[in-house]
Amino acid sequence: MSEFHIVEARPRTDWVYDSLHALEVAVTQELLGEDQSVGAEWSRASYSSEVTSLKGLLLALPGKAPTDAVAGRFGLPEAPESPVEVLGALEFGLPTRDNLHLMDDVYIQVLRRVRREGIGTALWREARRIAAEQGRTATIAWSHHLAGAVSMPERVEPSTGVGHLPVDRGSLFAQSLGLQLAQVERESRLVLPVDPDLLATVRAEAEAMALPTYEVVSWIGPTPEVHLERVAELNRTLSVDAPTGDLDWQEEVWDGERVRLSDELTHRTGYSVSTLAIHAATGDAAGFTLIHVHNAYPHRPEQWNTAVAAPHRGHRLGLLIKAVNLQHLAAATLEARYVETWNAGENNHMLGINTRLGFRLHSVHGAWKA
Ligand SMILES: CC(C)(COP(=O)(O)OP(=O)(O)OC[C@H]1O[C@@H](n2cnc3c(N)ncnc32)[C@H](O)[C@@H]1OP(=O)(O)O)[C@@H](O)C(=O)NCCC(=O)NCCS
Repeated sequence: MSEFHIVEARPRTDWVYDSLHALEVAVTQELLGEDQSVGAEWSRASYSSEVTSLKGLLLALPGKAPTDAVAGRFGLPEAPESPVEVLGALEFGLPTRDNLHLMDDVYIQVLRRVRREGIGTALWREARRIAAEQGRTATIAWSHHLAGAVSMPERVEPSTGVGHLPVDRGSLFAQSLGLQLAQVERESRLVLPVDPDLLATVRAEAEAMALPTYEVVSWIGPTPEVHLERVAELNRTLSVDAPTGDLDWQEEVWDGERVRLSDELTHRTGYSVSTLAIHAATGDAAGFTLIHVHNAYPHRPEQWNTAVAAPHRGHRLGLLIKAVNLQHLAAATLEARYVETWNAGENNHMLGINTRLGFRLHSVHGAWKA
């Protein structure tokens, strides 16, 4: 058994993001067959920005805890200034603008050679303590798995009955902690380039229903000032309208300033291609979609938010803005090989649009609740 102790990383302890990245590369290669890490630059940027949530990174390090270490804001010794081997990591967020009851985005990774030695459980116990001390009554943790048809008893189903995960080390570990599977998300991929004729056909079909009632505008980079409030409104819509399964997820509080700050963070390490639909007569925000390209991984752009506001549904706006955005992506990002997107298994409308555009299921992600 390895002796270990748990520390917390301060946001600016630079080396920990390289170590976290190395761990992520190894674990994503093991779970998904390829490097699906988010990148050290992205982690550095993300952990240095706490505009909408406090972020925690707990690390399991070899040996006994130093007796002279300074305690950090979550009550654990702070990570040393110089690099040491990282045996395991637990990440979490504590939202500060909304969802104040939650500890979310919990993800635990442990080096393969030190598994089944209690490191994952020890990291989880510290997270539970921190959640309780911070007054958080619910926790959401994630697990990642390649998709595949699995029958009972080799599969675990969420309480919603939609989708399933294989019974593998990730789900067995989550169950050993007493977590319940609250929702299964699907990651789908669209191989690029998409046939330009398909995009043109889909676009023309959608425009026939949506124009001239709606106007569509696209941009590359941060949201133009004039559209900040519209994008904020559609992000708020997304936070309540996307199915959340059995998770206790509450409406997010968005304003133009939050969009600006979020853009500022994402554009430090990449850029976004966005398309917005506006109701021509009123100027109201009707629909929005955004694809993000990480500078470190331009071959795999990520389809993030897509939302159509309730009063504007049924005009093919979802299909229209996605087709237009993919046309812009094709012109902007020549290195892109595929687009990834994540949707709730219950989200039939969004999945229908994605399938029409050529997205195909690749991996599944468990949202576990405690
Ligand atoms: C899941 C993971 C974090 C577990 O870390 P760990 O340090 O090995 O976990 P622990 O030693 O604390 O295991 C606690 C319990 O989980 C269960 N468990 C963990 N791994 C298991 C496996 N491979 N097979 C069966 N049960 C397992 C067991 O009940 C275990 O208790 P036991 O060893 O006394 O039987 C680690 O395997 C990992 O990094 N996997 C890849 C990332 C991942 O899937 N994360 C999702 C977390 S929800």
